[in-house]
Amino acid sequence: MNKEAFIETTPCLLVVDDEASQRLLIKAVMEEEGWLVKEASNGLEALNILDQENVQVILADLKMPKMDGLELLHKVQSIDSHLPVILLTAFGTVDLAVEAMKKGAFDFLTKPTDIEELKSTLNKAYTYFLASSEKYASGFHQQLEIIGQSKIMQQLIQLVRQVAPSEANILITGESGTGKELVANALHKLSLRAKEPLIKVNCASLPDNLLESELFGYVKGAFTGAYKDKPGRFLLAHKGTLFLDEIGEMPLNLQSKLLRALQEKTIEPLGAIHSVPVDVRFICATNKDLKQEVEKGNFREDLYFRINVIEIHLPPLRERKEDIPLLVNHFLKKLGDKNRKKIHKVSPEFLEQLTYYDWPGNVRELENILERAIILCPSDTLEVNQLPPHLLPQKNSRAIQENLEEAEKKAIIEALKANNGHREKTAQALGISRRTLQYKLKKYGLTKKR
Ligand SMILES: Nc1ncnc2c1ncn2[C@@H]1O[C@H](COP(=O)(O)OP(=O)(O)OP(=O)(O)O)[C@@H](O)[C@H]1O
Ligand SMILES: [Mg+2]
Repeated sequence: MNKEAFIETTPCLLVVDDEASQRLLIKAVMEEEGWLVKEASNGLEALNILDQENVQVILADLKMPKMDGLELLHKVQSIDSHLPVILLTAFGTVDLAVEAMKKGAFDFLTKPTDIEELKSTLNKAYTYFLASSEKYASGFHQQLEIIGQSKIMQQLIQLVRQVAPSEANILITGESGTGKELVANALHKLSLRAKEPLIKVNCASLPDNLLESELFGYVKGAFTGAYKDKPGRFLLAHKGTLFLDEIGEMPLNLQSKLLRALQEKTIEPLGAIHSVPVDVRFICATNKDLKQEVEKGNFREDLYFRINVIEIHLPPLRERKEDIPLLVNHFLKKLGDKNRKKIHKVSPEFLEQLTYYDWPGNVRELENILERAIILCPSDTLEVNQLPPHLLPQKNSRAIQENLEEAEKKAIIEALKANNGHREKTAQALGISRRTLQYKLKKYGLTKKR
């Protein structure tokens, strides 16, 4: 093995403890395990070492002079947020350690340290580091895209980060348009299965028998029309994640089959003689109250407990209106790029109006309304008159409607000019069909040659 490869594949631990004997003990144990071990006697020293060495895991005592474990954790996170920090704590300070976990520590160990537990925790942390730094290198941090500064969303994002690397089955609940699929994507991206496929199945979109063959697949000759083997989505998701959307719509007979697959970790394609082993992690989503469905007899209770090891509940937008400005900002960029329009600002009245509304369609509805406004917007600033009438105060809705039409007319004229009167291109630029454009040209008396 050449030296470079050796350096890259040897995990490097930094032990931070003011007690030299403790450091020596850990150093001896971990070097025996094939690790490289660096030492520091306090947080400040640790930061210096981090500056110079390629450390992958940090083990720090909670109580130290100068800079304690918590402060070190905080500093490390601002330098490199995916570097796992494990805290060592005396028996009496477990509460503090739990607090530290909430602040992003990878794990904690109590003193005196159990050697086997120490080894296994450090190895887990190293695996986590490798997985997360790979994702980091591929730009994954920017891709998470769950926007929200409200306390409830911040907690949710933290929960997502925390539970993603585990193997636990997760149930995502929440009203339509709250971001359930977005969270499912994030969970997969942050999991140790991120390099394997994420396969999605919408249980509401297919009739029962098709859903069954879609999920479990079939072998040639299983039924008329089965000319060759077809692998089910289950098999396609092998080693990866299977996302079952709208799980509440799954018929009871399929629920039993799914439960068997979950329990036995094998599936039987239709017409097959042997079962096939599968290794998948389940993420399910529903906008129904599954507990209530269980009570009504529409959903199997045993299946409910299997898929719901951890529940992530997405709050409706009306309960976190403080997130609206940030979401607007996010969508202006995203939708502006998509529609090739540069909208830099929104007027204060526009933003204010958005916060009066209750958003039954949640974030998806907000996204749609912004897209519409962006298309209608004749300048670089979104104004109230680009909102649909039901988002405006009722009393002057007629005036607003007129404003809206005025703005629409203006937008069409501008788009026509920009595209030299070419109808097809104009319709495309406005994101409407040619027929709709035709209709609107007529409505606004713009049909004559200009
Ligand atoms: N917190 C968020 N930050 C950024 N975009 C979001 C957020 N929540 C939702 N969105 C966007 O809103 C749209 C709807 O989200 P998504 O499809 O995940 O909702 P859903 O809960 O699965 O809805 P449904 O129940 O109707 O399937 C998507 O375009 C998504 O990107
Ligand atoms: Mg969805």
